[in-house]
Amino acid sequence: MNIMAIVLAAGQGKRMKSKLYKVLHPVCGKPMVGHVVETLQKINTSRTLVVVGYGAEAVQTYLGNQVEYATQEQQLGTGHAVLQAQAALGQEDGITIVICGDTPLITEQTLLKMIELHQHSAAAATVLTANLDQPQGYGRIIRDGSSGLVNKIVEQKDCTEEEALVTEINTGTYCFSNKQLFEALSLITNNNVQNEYYLTDVISILANQGETIQASCMEDVSESIGVNDRIALAEAERLLKERINRHHMLNGVTIIDPNHTYIETDVQIGMDTVLLPGTILKGHTQVGANCILGPNTEITDSTIKDEVVIKQSVLQEAYVDSYTSVGPFAYLRPGSKLGQNVKIGDFVEIKNATLDDGAKVSHLSYVGDAVVGKNVNFGCGAITVNYDGYNKSLTEIGDDAFVGSNVNLIAPVKIGQGAYVVAGSTITHNVDDNDLAVARERQTNKPGYADKIRASAQLKKKNGIS
Ligand code: UD1
Ligand code: CA
Repeated sequence: MNIMAIVLAAGQGKRMKSKLYKVLHPVCGKPMVGHVVETLQKINTSRTLVVVGYGAEAVQTYLGNQVEYATQEQQLGTGHAVLQAQAALGQEDGITIVICGDTPLITEQTLLKMIELHQHSAAAATVLTANLDQPQGYGRIIRDGSSGLVNKIVEQKDCTEEEALVTEINTGTYCFSNKQLFEALSLITNNNVQNEYYLTDVISILANQGETIQASCMEDVSESIGVNDRIALAEAERLLKERINRHHMLNGVTIIDPNHTYIETDVQIGMDTVLLPGTILKGHTQVGANCILGPNTEITDSTIKDEVVIKQSVLQEAYVDSYTSVGPFAYLRPGSKLGQNVKIGDFVEIKNATLDDGAKVSHLSYVGDAVVGKNVNFGCGAITVNYDGYNKSLTEIGDDAFVGSNVNLIAPVKIGQGAYVVAGSTITHNVDDNDLAVARERQTNKPGYADKIRASAQLKKKNGIS
């Protein structure tokens, strides 16, 4: 069977009160229309066409060439939006799913169930519906008393008091026989409270022609949410977060407090990893098995291998190999690449730097634009000085070197294997393998001089000299 899809994404989303076009608002890190297109890809539609209008360019830039587009110049309603697809799809045989770009939680299984019912019952249209305790704002499904089939859909604003009591709602997703859809669309008018061309009127037109209109009522009502304002956006976020967390827990991830753990849709997590409260995993982050992450840790687009511990830290585009520990309070910026058994301690920042196995940067350091060998020890407060105001330069440190506390390594500079840089040194020249480098003023002590300084200071104060 040829299955096509039309995604409605041309609306402005006035109720969002936003400069960002509605369907680009993210839910768990992914724009709503991205969720919808991804779900359609899972059911293998032969063609997917997105109707764009408001913010067309932004939507097209985001979705790229994985879908086709039709433009709706003026937003005259959902029926008018579907009509814009007629030039591209009107001649096709098969069935067409119409889905709104603002219903990000609908799943592949639910769509497949609707398609199956549609095909089985030889319906001209099948509406995906849900039974809601609070149906306000949604179109109501009006069924025929005897057959139970759908007679029409009435928008909230056009409802009679009696119709408003109906709790079965239109989710805005439908399955149509493609040619019948476009034939019926040519008959709709904008004779309603909003003066819009409603797609929902296609249902009564087809029903009046004696066609069968089915309703596929979804089991999990949380899928039905249509996001029209920020309140619904937060609700969608909560519902999808719950779904994602449940998925990971069923796969063997321990989540201590699922209400305070935020995992975006494309994140992968290995078995027996424990997520402590306040853990936020974003983008294409991959986490291995047996890790402990959190509390209060934000990891974006990073790869974490197995048995890694990360406490109260922020990681962005970082790579952390197995058995390594990070934090508390560390910041791994893009290009941080940590080997196995590395230790990154408190208040350490790493940027565009590779630290080989066993390296330790335990406290208060900045390592940027550096290649650090195996088992190198960075003393407390030691830093790379990588930027002169114009250029970034590289620091290279050989295996087993020791960098003392509060050392400044002024790049470009190389510290040889096994070399020893004495605490407090400011290093401007390369250090050869196994050499010791001291670069600081030799200490002199002046006996009793502290008393002299105090006496002189008191005298000045007494005479009013500042
Ligand atoms: C629509 C349905 C309603 C259903 C609800 C489910 C109609 C008339 N109403 O109402 O029965 O319960 O969805 O969430 O269809 N759009 C366009 N062009 C337009 C108008 C809208 O592309 O001219 C797009 C929007 O970008 C949006 C989708 O269509 O993604 C739905 O439009 P919206 O205005 O949100 O419709 P609802 O009032 O929610
Ligand atoms: Ca809507």
